Amino acid sequence: MDPAALFTKLGCPVCHAPGARYHGKILTAPHKSPEMLAKWIRTPEKFLPNTAMPSYETLLDEPSALALARWLKEAGPGAPTHGY
Ligand code: HEC
Repeated sequence: MDPAALFTKLGCPVCHAPGARYHGKILTAPHKSPEMLAKWIRTPEKFLPNTAMPSYETLLDEPSALALARWLKEAGPGAPTHGY
């Protein structure tokens, strides 16, 4: 599984790509643990009720969410290497 492709496929860039409305919100990702980010991605409403971010619990299993979180930290928008 390619996390970059998953990021696009799940529609994350609509909100988080550079220039998108919530790009700034993802820039904190490199400072958080992948485990915590994976939990956020699957169930953001558990951390912040009424957040504009949709729940991905039914679309992403835990290992996929963790892979996505690791990629976000290393190469996603806001990561030091800017792979995306
Ligand atoms: C409809 C817009 C939207 C989509 C789509 C979306 N997000 Fe978000 N995301 C947000 C918002 C808004 C926040 C910030 C929380 C807030 O202020 O409500 C956020 C925050 C985050 C954070 C930061 C969490 C933290 O603790 O700092 C990460 C990581 C993240 N999103 C990842 C993703 C991923 C991965 C996807 C695709 C699977 C995704 N988002 C799809 C709106 C979105």
